[in-house]
Formats: sequence, C-alpha cells, structure tokens
Amino acid sequence: MTTETGAGQWGTALSMSTAFFGLDCQVYMVKVSYEQKPFRREVMRTYGASVTPSPSMTTDIGRKINAEFPGTTGSLGCAISEAVEAAVKQPGYRYVLGSVLNQVLLHQSVIGLETKAALDKLGVKADLIIGCAGGGSNLGGLISPFVGEKLRGEADYDILAVEPASCPSLTRGKYAYDFCDTGRVCPLAKMYTLGSSFMPSANHAGGLRYHGMSTILSELYDQGLMRATSVEQTKVFEAAKLFAQTEGILPAPESSHAIRATIDEALKCKESGQAKNIVFGLTGTGYFDMVAYQKFNDGEMSDYIPTDEDIAKSLAQLPQVQG
Ligand SMILES: Cc1ncc(COP(=O)(O)O)c(C=O)c1O
Repeated sequence: MTTETGAGQWGTALSMSTAFFGLDCQVYMVKVSYEQKPFRREVMRTYGASVTPSPSMTTDIGRKINAEFPGTTGSLGCAISEAVEAAVKQPGYRYVLGSVLNQVLLHQSVIGLETKAALDKLGVKADLIIGCAGGGSNLGGLISPFVGEKLRGEADYDILAVEPASCPSLTRGKYAYDFCDTGRVCPLAKMYTLGSSFMPSANHAGGLRYHGMSTILSELYDQGLMRATSVEQTKVFEAAKLFAQTEGILPAPESSHAIRATIDEALKCKESGQAKNIVFGLTGTGYFDMVAYQKFNDGEMSDYIPTDEDIAKSLAQLPQVQG
C-alpha cells in the first residue's frame, strides 16, 4: 500500500496504521519533510512502513522530476506522482490520497459535526470560522455543517481559509483545470492552482505545500462564500509560540496558520470594539516539528514569497482545456 505524505498528512499516517501491521506499506514523504521532520518519519518506520524521500530515484517520475528540478526539496504534487506510479507498478498495492479529494473532506466533516454539536450545546453561534488550507480537507470538513446552513439561508458564517505566503493557491492562483500531481499522471481537477509544476520553497508547514486546492473549497471561494488570506511563516511561528505559552498546547506549523489569522481577527475586533465568536481548527500537534521551532527560536527562520514571475511560469504550463 502506498501513500504520499507531507509534514503533515499525519491523518493519513494514522489511518494507514492497520496497513502498517502485516502489510508492506510504502510511503513517499516530501524530501523537505523527510529532513525537517525526522521523528515523524521514524514513527512511520516503527509501524512498519518503508519511507522514501520524494522526489526519489526509485520511480520514473521521480527521476524525471529530479532531472527537471535539480536539488529540489519536493512537494506534495511530486510525492503523489511517485506513490501512484509505485502503486500501479506493484501488484497488490493501492494508492491512498490524504487530502484534496471529496471523500477526504467527507471524512473530516466529523470534525465540523462535533464542533457544531459542541457550539449548540453551549448555545454559542460562531460568527467566523478559520482553518489552515493545504489541500483543503481539514477546513472543508470543519465548515461543512456550517456551509450547509449558509447555503440553505438558515444562518450566515464568515469563513476564512489561511494558506502560507510561500504557497498561495487561493490568493494568488488561477481557477482552472489542472493536474493534481507534478508528474501529471492523476486526473484533472478544476481548482485554484499555482500550476502543477510549481515548486514551493522549503516552508516548515510541509502539509500546506500543495499547488492546488480542494475543488469544493475552490468553488466556495469562487462564489464568494469563503474568504482567504496568506501568512508568512515567521509570523505564523510568533503566533504558535504565543499560543503555546498561553494555552499550554504546542501546535503544528500548519495549524498555526489558523492561529495567526485568529489572533489577527481578534485584534481587529479589539480595535473596532466588535464582539465575535471565532472558531478555528487546531489540526495537529507540533511535537514532531521541533526542528522548525528550533530554527524559529534561534532566529534562523526566513520567509520566501514567490514572485509574480515564479507563479506565471508554472501557470503557463496549465493544460489547455476546451470550454
Ligand atoms: C497538522 C496538519 N494540519 C493541516 C494540514 C493541511 O492539510 P489539509 O488542508 O488537507 O487539511 C496538514 C497536512 O498535512 C497537517 O499535517
């Protein structure tokens, strides 16, 4: 069984645990995450998975990507291509995608239903719902019952997707048909995309380094039913540190994007005097991300924001689709 994985895709790793026992599980882990998150890698190996940094030299697509982008630290799009190739070429293997697709959002809607039940029990109405968005699954799941009410005209909610400034698919991408993977072996999806050949910089929130966005979230964004913002990783880690010191919970870098935006929105309320109930999704723990925290604490973290030229270059390679 194969899966792609990012910083991230921790949900995937957990859901794969039954496969780890007794089945040959092969994981293509984005190279930058493989290096930045050695303990996440070791957890998977402990459960029996073999973990290969992607892009690797073990697949045709990995070799092609390495030749095209020498020294690349990979992306979720590359890992997807390699995992699909490995699954197709080895009898008995299956490929599992941990984000983006509708069924993953459906699974994650449990989070939204539980959140809604908890708010209803407390008699609290959410005004603003915030989540980090990589492939879009946690946010899609969190907002699903609320969007249902919004679409039926039963209640209104302000929904905010938060993405890294280094990989801004909603805020700077194009709404177009694109490949879901860098090797262009997966079907096309209509989504906000930076282009499947976009190579994000080595941001520490590896789970948010995906060139596209779930088709459901893309459509909601396109219809103006959801907002989006992007944040720089140094600002994200400032928020993560404040959250850890205030709440005693060490958040994952991905989740900390939502925390950053939540703090910013709360500060705006403080300034305007407006009272708002803000709900945000805390998607994971940061205990496997201590290399990133160390870099931040040592003042060695920097931000890379792609130029318009970088984005235009990968968007120029979008597939030409009629209609
Ligand atoms: C902790 C954590 N949060 C969020 C995400 C973002 O993924 P998605 O946008 O699919 O929810 C990831 C992805 O790997 C993750 O590991």
